[in-house]
Amino acid sequence: MSRVFARGPASLPRVATALGSRVWDTDGQSYLDASGGAIVVGVGHGNETVIEAAARQARAVSYAHATMFAADVLDDYAEALAGLVPVDDAHVYPVSGGSEAVETALKMARAYHLARGEDRHVIVSRRGSYHGNTRGALDASGRDGLRAPYAPWLGAAVHAPSPYEYRCPFPEAHPDGCAAAHVAALDKLFAEWPVAAFIAEPVAGAGLGACVPPSGYWPGVAEACRRHGVLLIADEVMTGFGRTGTWFGLDHWGVRADIVTAGKGAASGYWPLGLAIASGEVHATIAGAFTHGFTYSHHLVGAATGLAVLDALRPLVPGVADKGRFLLDGLRAVLAADERVGDVRGLGLLTGIELVADRATRRPYPRAHRLAERVTATARDLGLLIYHGTGCADGTDGDLVLLGPPLSTSEDELAEIIALCARAIAATR
Ligand SMILES: Cc1ncc(COP(=O)(O)O)c(C=O)c1O
Repeated sequence: MSRVFARGPASLPRVATALGSRVWDTDGQSYLDASGGAIVVGVGHGNETVIEAAARQARAVSYAHATMFAADVLDDYAEALAGLVPVDDAHVYPVSGGSEAVETALKMARAYHLARGEDRHVIVSRRGSYHGNTRGALDASGRDGLRAPYAPWLGAAVHAPSPYEYRCPFPEAHPDGCAAAHVAALDKLFAEWPVAAFIAEPVAGAGLGACVPPSGYWPGVAEACRRHGVLLIADEVMTGFGRTGTWFGLDHWGVRADIVTAGKGAASGYWPLGLAIASGEVHATIAGAFTHGFTYSHHLVGAATGLAVLDALRPLVPGVADKGRFLLDGLRAVLAADERVGDVRGLGLLTGIELVADRATRRPYPRAHRLAERVTATARDLGLLIYHGTGCADGTDGDLVLLGPPLSTSEDELAEIIALCARAIAATR
């Protein structure tokens, strides 16, 4: 019996090796990786250049505490990132994952207002969102199922409606007035509370399944934040590093954030890396007086890995939009006749499939049916790795399949993913 405090079911296959978009277990079974784990692996598995860059840095010096040494590799990585992130005059605070990045960003926002003499402390986020599992990030998250056991510790964040066009929270305004209705709702919250920051995913990820907001949403939200002196935190942990077809999700709308959080694709799974990236103004306001830090923040191997991943991504990102369209169109075509598929949506190589009990009414399956988990298990038996989400419809019910293959996945492999995905959904009763 294993002494690992396991996270998944007891009967998981044992992983052996991985290369490109394929993973093999110790029995020799091969899996096509349609989700890069949890939408993590952008550059594909087994990239020798990235592995070598990490090893080279570890050989030179693997660890130096960020209060004791500066390092060229950190400067080089921050410089390279600054030219890509939708943040003016970016300053990069590297950490160990998405949740740490979000905690760091929330504290930066609070510190910024305090330094300016304003006691703003409220974080506004969105229902159905996911920002991480540590306490501050979980409080910002709007997923009831994850929050419920820890509810006595939470409750400081205020949740606004999410742009979820399949189940629009403003049916009377849908579809042309949705963006304005969302902005009006935020305007009201920003006027009511001493709001420090608004945090949101540019394209909703694990919680709502690749929901793309209406076109006026992000420009309107950014404008509302500026009007009320609220910092805009774009949580790009899932959407960053080319996932949606542009380097960062906000780029689709030409919007700039005050702080960007990132993780997942930043190091593509080769190192546990997260980033909180502050604008020059935020940085200048709090630098030197920001009470924060982690033992493993500003990690040298993380920076070397991130830098090599950026180089590996450069030739891949321009092809993501076309690959994403191929995946989305292909899935829509093969799933059109499946009565349990309510919606297929997404942007770039981030695709969500929402499963329903009744297509006409969009009624979800009851949670006890565990459809999303069972589809994922069927897919794995067929040799396909996909990610799932639950609770999208009302916080409890609502089944999602999420796809986010490596950006290096070939069109032939995408065609195989499409076919296997349809088979997995059809075969799960
Ligand atoms: C948008 C978003 N923010 C934050 C997180 C938390 O990241 P991590 O799991 O690396 O702590 C996630 C993880 O799924 C995410 O999708």
